[in-house]
Amino acid sequence: KEGFDLVVVANRLPVDFTVSDDGDVSWNRSPGGLVTALEPVMQAADGAWVGWSGAPDLEVEPLDADDMRLVPVTLSAEEIERYYEGFSNDTLWPLYHDVIAPPTYHRTWWDSYHRVNQRFADAAVEQAAHGATVWIHDYQLQLVPKMIREQRPDLRIGFFNHIPFPPLELFQQLPWRRRVIDGLLGADLVGFQRAGDAANFIRAVRRLRAYTTRGPMITVPDEDGRERHVRAAAFPISIDSRRFDELARQPEIQHRAREIRSDLGDPEIMMLGVDRLDYTKGIRHRIKAYGELLQDGRLDVEHATLVQVASPSRENVGAYQDLREHVEGAVGRINGEYAEIGHAAIHYLHHSYPPEEMAAMYLAADVMLVTSLRDGMNLVAKEYVAARSDDRGVLVLSEFTGAADEMAAGALLVNPHDIDGMKDMIVAAAHMDTREQRKRMRRLRRRVLADDVARWSESFLGVLTAMPSRVPRST
Ligand code: G6P
Repeated sequence: KEGFDLVVVANRLPVDFTVSDDGDVSWNRSPGGLVTALEPVMQAADGAWVGWSGAPDLEVEPLDADDMRLVPVTLSAEEIERYYEGFSNDTLWPLYHDVIAPPTYHRTWWDSYHRVNQRFADAAVEQAAHGATVWIHDYQLQLVPKMIREQRPDLRIGFFNHIPFPPLELFQQLPWRRRVIDGLLGADLVGFQRAGDAANFIRAVRRLRAYTTRGPMITVPDEDGRERHVRAAAFPISIDSRRFDELARQPEIQHRAREIRSDLGDPEIMMLGVDRLDYTKGIRHRIKAYGELLQDGRLDVEHATLVQVASPSRENVGAYQDLREHVEGAVGRINGEYAEIGHAAIHYLHHSYPPEEMAAMYLAADVMLVTSLRDGMNLVAKEYVAARSDDRGVLVLSEFTGAADEMAAGALLVNPHDIDGMKDMIVAAAHMDTREQRKRMRRLRRRVLADDVARWSESFLGVLTAMPSRVPRST
């Protein structure tokens, strides 16, 4: 039989390639939310994964890795600048995250986005067996569903948006808004993180295309005069919960957690932030609140410390460079003002770490601070909970995350724009007694351990394969 039954299309492959001086290409598995999410599904199915090779002009032949076929797509330096850094991360990313940073609209970026989406679509079409399922991921590839359908009406096409879908009033800013809607409507199933995101999308479809909708179903006219049904609904993503649970039960990792605390000077309260260094994550608001608590004397460096992991991200994009300046300036000022020898106010780590080290940090931390201004889901909140098999620790969680829809019962919810409210919540978390911690953490863990990522992908693929592919012509 020719081709694969399941083809995943995402901007990134689940590996990083390195090229040696004599031109040999080797690869390493790369971390990251989407990769963690899809690995189990891919290993279970006969799957191919189409994604960018990760470096300018890097051409790599398809290869087999970890029970799946990897199909690298090559991008030029100019395409990385226009399609990836430009349209994906300087237009769509800020627009879809409530314009926290101003989106930039450039026609050359759009042209590149269109061209690169076509390349991904062509690569997917080439891999897919007759009647296969194609699952396209995220905002970088919104035109791919339509581009695939045009060539291969035999395929079942699913799309999942990992980031928020904005309210119509913001989405309308996009000069190519109808093209994006049409691109997505090439899918049979369009998945979102929250019910609110799906509702925003359906509203945009009605207002910009005037198609009929009924609940989650959208009726789309096809070129041949027939009708097609597209479903738009929420499928909140999760993590490989058991993996974090098991990691955190390992003696070496528990030992590492104690070592981290002792290296920090055995603080009474260790607070932790773990984010990509991204302006959507509310790192500045969090640090401001923390600095004020030190200033007010409600926290002091002899008893409390904040560890902030800020992993490098999208470093060629201006807004990310500005954020780094701001965060590092603020951390420097707060440490300069309040730290003492042997007692830093904030331990700022501009690195990324393997899951083992993350599990140790989660275990070590009394309070986990997730204060995003807007976040599709936020998997760090779920990882923290999955790692706490001791039922200890407090999760402070922004209302503006997808995770807040599911974790409101156990977390302390905050509005990160309300600095005073956030300060009170951080203090409440620091002082929470162990009984209350246990009660809340148990609730959170029940949910996170049951709704893991395997369930998420089964549920998405289950709905997708159950959909009728075509509505018969009415006579
Ligand atoms: C978010 C997006 C992903 C993206 C990841 C890392 O989680 O939803 O699509 O891969 O950030 O960003 P990067 O630009 O490095 O791929």
